[in-house]
Amino acid sequence: MIQQFRNIKACDIELSSGFNFLIGPNGSGKTSLLEALYMLGYGRSFRSSLTGRVIQNACQELFVHGRLLNSEQIETPIGINKQRDGVVEVKIGGMSGQKLSQLTQVLPLQLIHPEGFELLTDGPKQRRAFIDWGVFYSVPAFFEAWGRFRRLNKQRNALLKTATSYREMQYWDAELSSLAEQIDTWRAGYVEQIKTGTESLCQDFLPEFDIRLQYYRGWDKETSYRELLERNFERDKMLGYTFSGPNKADLRIRVNGTPVEDILSRGQLKLMVCALRVAQGQHLTSLTGKQCIYLIDDFASELDSERRKLLADCFKATGAQVFVSSITQSQVDDMVMSDSKMFHMEQGRIEQR
Ligand SMILES: Nc1ncnc2c1ncn2[C@@H]1O[C@H](COP(=O)(O)OP(=O)(O)OP(=O)(O)O)[C@@H](O)[C@H]1O
Ligand SMILES: [Mg+2]
Repeated sequence: MIQQFRNIKACDIELSSGFNFLIGPNGSGKTSLLEALYMLGYGRSFRSSLTGRVIQNACQELFVHGRLLNSEQIETPIGINKQRDGVVEVKIGGMSGQKLSQLTQVLPLQLIHPEGFELLTDGPKQRRAFIDWGVFYSVPAFFEAWGRFRRLNKQRNALLKTATSYREMQYWDAELSSLAEQIDTWRAGYVEQIKTGTESLCQDFLPEFDIRLQYYRGWDKETSYRELLERNFERDKMLGYTFSGPNKADLRIRVNGTPVEDILSRGQLKLMVCALRVAQGQHLTSLTGKQCIYLIDDFASELDSERRKLLADCFKATGAQVFVSSITQSQVDDMVMSDSKMFHMEQGRIEQR
């Protein structure tokens, strides 16, 4: 159920547990509907960091509610309400006052959208988020530890501005370095687990290339984080912040030994993003039994019919719930299965056909 969200007219729809297609012209609300589902899992939009932009014009708040069915067909209602003044209310299983991270925990989502190639072409931030998505679901203690690391790192940066000798930093650095080493161990372990599966799915999608993933922890391999902080004290002080560390970690991707953006076309970048996201979703399922939901906006863009078919087969094989938006129905014909549902959108109204 979606209410007062962008241009979407209040709706309450019964979804397929397989493929759900959203078909409609430009501006009809396809991306907005995916944005609403994304908000239910992440508590925020992927298009705007300002809640005010997402809440329907002239309304004060938005609501997105859903009913999650697990493999035993047990139903859990979940919901989020966001208001213009910044108040956020999360409900899980009828209980209000829940944390956003709990919502994320129960609703793993993967988004594939036309700007998604930024995962490969932009700086390390998105690739770090990619790694952390997986670590979040596989290591329960990660979320707290990463939050604590970020808070301590901020405090350290503030202290750097006034400290006159490294001795003043030692107290902070003891905890900061043990957290950093822990976070690094989790991330490295996760990348190790997904590396082979992900590289081989990339290879299936782009057989003409040799694709390799490599984890970079954010500082050199030989040095402990503690030593590094001490050694770089003068430089960090000059910069006004801690230069190296887990906040600089990256997943380095090379195609035929070259950085991705120099070698892949836009369609190939899109295929590779799909490979990364699907491999990650499948790993989650094999590890935890949790099924991941895929949101695919503007499915057909950049892809020829052969590649569309390849992707369609791959998503079918996951057995996951998938939402696919497209301007015309013919572009998604290859994906339709007996349990699929087709929704047509027109000026924010959604109708099942
Ligand atoms: N806060 C809001 N309140 C009401 N309408 C809004 C709000 N924000 C955006 N809109 C409108 O909602 C419409 C939905 O756009 P959306 O991006 O979901 O369309 P789309 O179907 O994905 O189109 P395209 O095929 O071009 O990607 C746009 O016309 C936009 O102007
Ligand atoms: Mg759109």
